Amino acid sequence: MKETFNLQTSEQIVAALQRRGPQAKALQEYAREIKLQSVGNQVYLRGLIEYSNCCSKSCYYCGIRGGNPQVHRYTVSTEETLEAARFAYENGFGSIVLQAGERNDKAYTQQIEKLLLDIDKISKGELGITLSLGEQNRSTLLRWKQAGAKRYLLRIEASDPTLYAKLHPADHSYQKRLECIDLLKDLNYQVGTGVMIGLPFQTYENLAQDLLFFQKRDIDMIGMGPYIEHAQTPLYAYKDQLLSIEERYILSLNMLAVLRILMPDINIASTTAMGSLKKEGREEAIRIAANVIMPNLTPFSYREDYFLYQDKICINESNADSKINIEALVQRAGCKIAYHAHGDSHHFFNRQKR
Ligand code: 5AD
Repeated sequence: MKETFNLQTSEQIVAALQRRGPQAKALQEYAREIKLQSVGNQVYLRGLIEYSNCCSKSCYYCGIRGGNPQVHRYTVSTEETLEAARFAYENGFGSIVLQAGERNDKAYTQQIEKLLLDIDKISKGELGITLSLGEQNRSTLLRWKQAGAKRYLLRIEASDPTLYAKLHPADHSYQKRLECIDLLKDLNYQVGTGVMIGLPFQTYENLAQDLLFFQKRDIDMIGMGPYIEHAQTPLYAYKDQLLSIEERYILSLNMLAVLRILMPDINIASTTAMGSLKKEGREEAIRIAANVIMPNLTPFSYREDYFLYQDKICINESNADSKINIEALVQRAGCKIAYHAHGDSHHFFNRQKR
């Protein structure tokens, strides 16, 4: 008889995350069935533009943290950004993501607003635009929404305040981050968040609580992937305490599977970190749970400077190659790319009806 999964309590989720071998496979296959029933076999493309690695924050895990003096800082020019957006539009990608380190000054706010309006113009309003630009205040988020942004990604990184505090310097506020996520909802963005999996100090209980956090906060989109160390960061000191690559990989797949079972109608990304940890990582994520993938469209000359963690993939891949590789990857996962589709989160509309 086919196994069913009761995943309501933290204990039940921890037990699911601890599955290995055939038992993990059974969990993942069950998630795949739920995925196919709820969001189908379609995969949506988000062209990722890593717009700038300038950052006023100094997160202990991140390679481009403001406190890393070895990073060569860049901001992509307006023309190059529009060119990348045009590539996405002309190749039938339904949407793009503008991602960067965090900056909060007025000139930057205006620069992003102008870019949003320009992208809207060149794509005749057809490209969906997602922002991933860190914590911002209400007026900035409102301006960007009015200029055409529809979705916003702001990972909570770790939903446990104690763990959060171990990953960030004292000037970061867990409370402020939560407030920003609430603000995004309030402003009617489709809201994305996520965590890293396999962080130093992180427990199974923490991960179970992360999943319940997403559910309780009624999140529309999740991007989560394995934590991968970077030598120029404070957390590198704990590299010997990390789970093995194999363990982090299985745990990440189990996390994705449980998430899909808990939240059938959300959008889930197959992250670059999954593919960086394991060659087949992004494909496996799509097979069992994810329905979104983000081909890297950052202009070539900047890519190696957006080095969040070691072994990050897609640094030497042209946009055309990336398109071909992603098509093949999605096909191997038994799914199909939905070209020319925004691929909005069903959860967003279901939540609005409620
Ligand atoms: N390993 C994995 N993911 C990382 N990120 C930043 N640093 C790392 C790392 N060392 C993720 C964070 C951030 C996103 C842009 O990249 O979760 O939100």
